[in-house]
Amino acid sequence: MRTRAVRRANRTGGAGSVPASGNGRAVFLTGASSGIGRALAVELARRGYRLAISARREERLITLKEEIASFAPDLHVLARRLDVTDTGALFAAFDEAVAELGGIDIAIANAGVATRSEVGSGEFEHAKRTIEVNVIGAMATVDAAVRYFRERGSGHVVGICSVAGMRGLPRSAPYSASKAALATYLEAARSELVGTAIDVTVIHPGFIATEMNADLPRRPFVIDAERGARIIANQIERRVRVTTAPVIPWGILSRLLKLIPSRLLARVR
Ligand SMILES: NC(=O)c1ccc[n+]([C@@H]2O[C@H](COP(=O)([O-])OP(=O)(O)OC[C@H]3O[C@@H](n4cnc5c(N)ncnc54)[C@H](OP(=O)(O)O)[C@@H]3O)[C@@H](O)[C@H]2O)c1
Repeated sequence: MRTRAVRRANRTGGAGSVPASGNGRAVFLTGASSGIGRALAVELARRGYRLAISARREERLITLKEEIASFAPDLHVLARRLDVTDTGALFAAFDEAVAELGGIDIAIANAGVATRSEVGSGEFEHAKRTIEVNVIGAMATVDAAVRYFRERGSGHVVGICSVAGMRGLPRSAPYSASKAALATYLEAARSELVGTAIDVTVIHPGFIATEMNADLPRRPFVIDAERGARIIANQIERRVRVTTAPVIPWGILSRLLKLIPSRLLARVR
């Protein structure tokens, strides 16, 4: 019954709140200072998951930790400043989270940036930064987690990719490429982990209202971050392999996106 309710909530983007389903399991989550990561931290805390949250804006993590303490005072939340492009610091942060929380059950590579610029526009530094954060930072998160999960014998690694990675979008070439790279990396990891108790989940969100896209002229089918977080939390708990968030309409639109001729796609602003 519960599975059916969660499936329905996923399809419709509805609440589907599942109380205390976390059962004290521990989550390592990057990019928790705003948007999807912040909302996901709150949602997972409500479900009883212990958390290791990180981002560069430490003051926001402290506020988030206080917000979580207001409704879950006994929940163990470890907040740490972390730039995911500093891969040495990332590996250390993961090890610290394992030690402090007595293990990590789920690792979510969520930290990301998006810049809008055209190829050859003279803004290559933005492109480089996008790859450093969205690809290198996320790969390092996955690598740290899988190394530990292999030793432990079980675990769950989750990558927040994007519908934008399922088709190269104009003015978003580095971003589309970064998300395609992360999804492919995780797909390869899944094959390597066949026969183990380590699961790999790839989530491709559509538009979720956050700082990342606040200035976009159009955000079709946008949903708020809280709703996005509930959907993503449900998908993580179901250990889906690959999905869009929400499933409808993006499961269908992402397939159609691949068929649109570049001439038409060029008009999208
Ligand atoms: N919103 C959408 O519609 C949408 C759609 C598809 C995919 N996504 C993906 O969802 C993820 C979350 O994005 P969002 O929409 O929630 O955007 P957001 O509100 O801008 O959040 C991005 C998060 O990533 C963190 N971050 C950025 N650079 C970092 C770095 N170098 N090291 C550590 N953390 C870093 C930011 O924290 P600090 O700045 O404090 O470090 C922030 O917490 C991203 O991977 C994004 O690509 C979003």
